[in-house]
Amino acid sequence: MDHVILAIESSCDETAAAVLVNGKIQSNVIATQTIHQKYGGVVPELASRAHQQNIVPVVAQSLEDAKVRKGDLTALAFTQGPGLLGSLLVGASFAKAMALALNVPLVAVHHMQAHILAHFIDEPHPTFPFLCLTVSGGHTQIVLVRSHLGMEIIGQTQDDAVGEAFDKTAKMLGLPYPGGPLIDKYAQEGNPKAFTFPGVDMPGLDFSFSGIKTAFLYFLRDHTAANPSFVQENMADICASVQHTLVNILLKKLHKAAAETGIREIAIAGGVSANRGLREALARMGGQQGWQVYIPEFGYCTDNAAMIAMAAYYKALAGQYSDQTVTPMPRMEW
Ligand code: KG4
Ligand code: ZN
Repeated sequence: MDHVILAIESSCDETAAAVLVNGKIQSNVIATQTIHQKYGGVVPELASRAHQQNIVPVVAQSLEDAKVRKGDLTALAFTQGPGLLGSLLVGASFAKAMALALNVPLVAVHHMQAHILAHFIDEPHPTFPFLCLTVSGGHTQIVLVRSHLGMEIIGQTQDDAVGEAFDKTAKMLGLPYPGGPLIDKYAQEGNPKAFTFPGVDMPGLDFSFSGIKTAFLYFLRDHTAANPSFVQENMADICASVQHTLVNILLKKLHKAAAETGIREIAIAGGVSANRGLREALARMGGQQGWQVYIPEFGYCTDNAAMIAMAAYYKALAGQYSDQTVTPMPRMEW
């Protein structure tokens, strides 16, 4: 049977739609909401309104790009969670209405699992079992991936996500939201060893990033008291040092996970996997350790619907469809 899937992603501040035909992505459209920049973070109420405005044109564009007619669709996929309730509701309601009108089934997708399955959009892809460091604005996890749908979290943050740590330190530096990509940009010119920030060593494979946030706050307070233009004069070195600290914490645990499991197929996924410091350091560590390393294309790191379509494809192959009673789950478990 052919699988022609329209997938919708609306968990946070990107409205996205993609079309997949038999495992191959045919279109991938994203409308990024810029309205949040001036507020220094995503405003949930504004995000759901913007999804309402964007969803019809984004879906129409994805069908047009893929040269697929509505009547050809065999399933409607959407992000069920985790994410912002008001944002998820727009995608879920749209998918449900369209599935009802076309009389096709729904596929409800877990956003973080989809980030991992983005690795199967293009070749080469990891072979099972592999480890995936999944790093985004809301999550920091080490996932043991045994099959497309068989995933186990073996380590995770006990407080903030690493993307949040990037964004919050950027905010303290006066940079606009989302700050992660800007820290990355300034870090290119800076010395990663200029400043050091103490990280909390968590037991096992877990992470903690809230301590660094506080340490960074005091660091800025003390330095700007001594020199009011400290940040302006040292932006590149500060960003490089923060990034170096965060990347080291991530890679130390990934190294430990690889040693404990004996797995040498190593992937990264999620928004923070776009970070150049992380990508370069992982490639280096992979070379030293004899790992096969998988780093997604930039476009598949941050939120997109191609990854939702890919995850939906594997769920459809396994017969994991949902009916019209399915609802969004902001705190969706695995
Ligand atoms: O996966 P994603 O697009 O959305 C969530 O599922 O959360 O991840 C967004 C996060 C934000 O915290 C953003 O600052 C971070 O990914 N991010 C980066 C970079 N690009 C995106 N962090 C560091 N360096 C980057 N280049
Ligand atoms: Zn995401």
